[in-house]
Amino acid sequence: MNTMYTQFRTRIGFLASHSGSNMQSIIDACKSGRLQADPVVVISNNGNSGALDRAYSEGIPAFYISSKNYPDAEVEDKAIRDVLINHQVNLIVLAGFMKKIGPVTLDEFRGRILNIHPALLPKHGGKGMYGKFVHEQVLASGDKQTGVTVHLVTGDYDRGPILAQKIVPVLEGDTVESLANRVLEVEHQIYTETIADIISGAIQLPQS
Ligand code: GAR
Repeated sequence: MNTMYTQFRTRIGFLASHSGSNMQSIIDACKSGRLQADPVVVISNNGNSGALDRAYSEGIPAFYISSKNYPDAEVEDKAIRDVLINHQVNLIVLAGFMKKIGPVTLDEFRGRILNIHPALLPKHGGKGMYGKFVHEQVLASGDKQTGVTVHLVTGDYDRGPILAQKIVPVLEGDTVESLANRVLEVEHQIYTETIADIISGAIQLPQS
């Protein structure tokens, strides 16, 4: 990370495009003291997202930044970086964020950006593989197990170093919805656990 901050508590900035249930589980863990961290800002590229509604209800500063209000991709990327810097974020959590992180933000926060993916990467990842499309592909593949991956974000979709994974069995008769629901429950556990491990030092992020 290029920007040096002096505070010691982890300050989480979320990027989220959809319902924000992963984000909420992490916010709840911060509020209950299970996570020694503060959720300080939420950015969404979807003005109607549940994630923005949740941020408003929690009183967390929230920003809508998308290609609709920032048609120039570099200006959009810089706007995201600046919001994160202005809120002194030192850990970025992508929680169902369906856009690639731009190079400006990535350069500023390299090694400090986490993503969760609803499958066992490197399987069922890459461009276009998000949400229900992942579970559709898992079911079509005949795989007997799927799972959840938390990884560091790099310039390529779903390719960064894996920090944690958990297996979820695929059951006879599973639909996209039943599988997605079971995977999401595990996401809510593993994301908070992984962040707790980063804060405790059990998982070491690369030196910046
Ligand atoms: C989650 O299942 C997350 O893993 C997935 O989107 C969903 C968001 O749910 N992310 C991806 O597929 C990224 N490639 P949420 O908005 O309720 O947290």
